[in-house]
Amino acid sequence: MSKGPGVQKMFDAIAGRYDLMNRVMTLGQDQRWRKFVVQKAGDPGRGATLDLATGTGDIAALMSRTYPYARVTGADFSLNMLKEAEKRFASSGIHWQACDANKLPFDDNCFDSVTFGYLLRNVDDAGKVLTEVCRVLSPGGRVVCLDTTPPARNLLYPFVLLYLKYGIPIMGKMIANDEAAYSYLTGSTMDFYSAGELAELFTAAGFTKVGYKKFMFGTIGIHWGEKP
Ligand SMILES: C[S@@+](CC[C@H](N)C(=O)[O-])C[C@H]1O[C@@H](n2cnc3c(N)ncnc32)[C@H](O)[C@@H]1O
Repeated sequence: MSKGPGVQKMFDAIAGRYDLMNRVMTLGQDQRWRKFVVQKAGDPGRGATLDLATGTGDIAALMSRTYPYARVTGADFSLNMLKEAEKRFASSGIHWQACDANKLPFDDNCFDSVTFGYLLRNVDDAGKVLTEVCRVLSPGGRVVCLDTTPPARNLLYPFVLLYLKYGIPIMGKMIANDEAAYSYLTGSTMDFYSAGELAELFTAAGFTKVGYKKFMFGTIGIHWGEKP
């Protein structure tokens, strides 16, 4: 069964508490990672940039603030998340668009950069979404992806695991009143590709100059690449 409908329903349900929960569970680090994403995407000048799975719009808004001439589109399939984004960044000039990352309603080669935060863990076929992203990017355009990664098995592993398995779901219950959504976050992180495997998927989807950097005890990865 496809993950899509369940994921859409889950984000529709937590949209109102999403930002607060993000700040708390990342110990206030989440905006720093988004800034890194925007910096890696680079300035598109007066070109077009897409923030896919934009959620409540943080990456799209940072993109718009950092590169004021850019034409920014924020896209997501959760209408409640998009409504929060529109409310938060009403005067930003960002174009908000409802769409599914598996089948983007955009022409080939029409964006100078595409970013996405916490998308690939939520789709059935990450390789297919990356191929679709590559299609809408113009040659030379950059992709930057922020997501969780399974923690490395090092000395810190037992502590990181405790935080992921118990800390995050408890916070999810207390802050977002939705323990299941945040248990899903932990489960989907543990089941997701390692940072190295994900980099290989970027290459297989057609990207070059692929690289990545890890953050927060290796539980967050930022990957980037370029369409040749
Ligand atoms: C964890 S939120 C991330 C939001 C935002 N990128 C951020 O940095 O906070 C994941 C978002 O991905 C969206 N999403 C998941 N699967 C999607 C798909 N197939 N198409 C479009 N959006 C999707 C969800 O609706 C949700 O808003």
